[in-house]
Amino acid sequence: MKFKVLVTKEELDKRTTELAKAIERDYKGKDLVLVGVLKGGFIFLADLVRKISMDLSIDFISVSSYGNSTESSGVVRILKDIDSDITGKHVLLVEDLIDTGLTLKYLKELFNTKGCASVKLAAILDKPERRKVDLKVDYSGIEIPDKFVVGYGLDWAGKYRNLPDVCVVGDGT
Ligand code: IMP
Ligand code: MG
Repeated sequence: MKFKVLVTKEELDKRTTELAKAIERDYKGKDLVLVGVLKGGFIFLADLVRKISMDLSIDFISVSSYGNSTESSGVVRILKDIDSDITGKHVLLVEDLIDTGLTLKYLKELFNTKGCASVKLAAILDKPERRKVDLKVDYSGIEIPDKFVVGYGLDWAGKYRNLPDVCVVGDGT
């Protein structure tokens, strides 16, 4: 399979450091729980937390959209829920990429019903052209064009999550 690098690992590292510093500044002294959205969010979460120098907790939620696999339907099925008590805590949802925004909108509304002190969103990649719902991404990483990408946690039919750069499949056209 041919790949064209769209965002290098160096750019990802630089942006992740900046986001980590912003999170550290905003949540200093607060009870913070980062909730990684599986599977794609695992690499960004792992990079992010190692750059945040404060006490925090980590949990994971695994979701899948109903319908076909390339278009998000907005109906999100929880495959694995968080397993810690987040009542009164500040929750930061950590995603790989925001496309239509339907997944994170659903998750944000869900977490808003759980009695958290706050619910905010972080995503390392953003395709703003694709947005279908109004969504505030509190910690947005790097904007990319409307192209299907893999690597840095993102998959194509379950593969290529381990590529260190974000790549477009094919020659990038
Ligand atoms: P949405 O924002 O609800 O449309 O869905 C976002 C999710 O769809 C992301 O978290 C990814 O898991 C997946 N996704 C969207 N675009 C891509 C892509 O270009 N490559 C791989 N997965 C993608
Ligand atoms: Mg995802």
